[in-house]
Amino acid sequence: QTLELELDRIEKGGYEHFMLKEIFEQPRSILDSMRGRLELEAAHLNMGGVRAYERKFVNADRIIIVACGTSWHAGLVAEYLLEDLARIPVEVEYASEFRYRNPVITERDIVIAISQSGETADTLAAIELAKSRGATIFGICNVVGSSIARATDAGAYTHAGPEIGVASTKAFTAQVTVLTLLAMIVGHKRGTLTDSKLRELMVELSNIPAKVEKALLLNDQIERISETFKDVPNFLYLGRGYNFPVALEGALKLKEISYIHAEGYPAAEMKHGPIALIDENMPVVVIATKDSSYEKVVSNIQEVKARKGRIIAVVTEGDTTIPDMAEFTIEVPATSEVLMPLVSVVPLQLLSYHIAVMRGCNVDQPRNLAKSVTVE
Ligand code: AGP
Repeated sequence: QTLELELDRIEKGGYEHFMLKEIFEQPRSILDSMRGRLELEAAHLNMGGVRAYERKFVNADRIIIVACGTSWHAGLVAEYLLEDLARIPVEVEYASEFRYRNPVITERDIVIAISQSGETADTLAAIELAKSRGATIFGICNVVGSSIARATDAGAYTHAGPEIGVASTKAFTAQVTVLTLLAMIVGHKRGTLTDSKLRELMVELSNIPAKVEKALLLNDQIERISETFKDVPNFLYLGRGYNFPVALEGALKLKEISYIHAEGYPAAEMKHGPIALIDENMPVVVIATKDSSYEKVVSNIQEVKARKGRIIAVVTEGDTTIPDMAEFTIEVPATSEVLMPLVSVVPLQLLSYHIAVMRGCNVDQPRNLAKSVTVE
């Protein structure tokens, strides 16, 4: 018994749960996912799996991304990245819907399948369908040699290391890192990303592990905030642009491990329905970092405030406007707009973790969930 407990403690690296350990591993796992791929000195990006299919990517009519859950959220971030940086139209599909539709797929399409486990049944079936219609399949998996990794034409591994917690954390940021590199490589090859912009993004991407490290220092503050909200029945998460998928991811994290009902929305969609839910009992997490939609998000915060919603805002360090409007303000380091999800998701992971622990939930193995969903 004591030996078992001791082994468990060692496996968790001194952390109380795998999830917390994995959240704290992110500076390292992001770095590992860039290692050998981002060569700053040589001003060079290198991804073996892309090289052989470079022409395909450059000439692609369209990219279709298939995934489930958190990996689908990483796919949504990739939609913004690939359209912004590489100007290729992107569609992001739930693998479970895609596989049973009759989707229009051609040989000029590239299908990117994203999966931590590489064993998700729906994603695997979506790949088989796309393959049978002649598309090129590119996989982004964490588990080496997994079924999805083997079913794809080419791919790139996320080097996040084993993820044990059912709630995906470091796999998400590793996926976004790899997808960012992919969008940068393809954008540069297509000429939609200039040398100087590429260089700028490379420098900023190499600074991300240190910024995530800094965001992790928010842990104590977030633990205190969690105390206030641990007993609420509902949560709303809002974000725009690159932070919209982060809002969805924050809501998913909270619901799966704390069993609190949570919904993520693009902030501007609020007025089309969810605003009716807002009263003095509704906590609203708004990701409001300094980017091109900042002013608009500030207006959305005002709309929430006017209805007495309880605002928890994730802002860029040094923001002087939002702290006056929000009940709680969480400051994350500034970075390029396109890289922000890698930083802004961290406080949301921590928030869900602490709330779940305070509610006495089994954070590493939440009820009704499996780490890999190998059945449909
Ligand atoms: C994430 O926290 C979930 N547990 C879940 O949504 C997961 O991301 C989904 O099942 C996809 O898994 P995969 O990445 O292994 O394919």
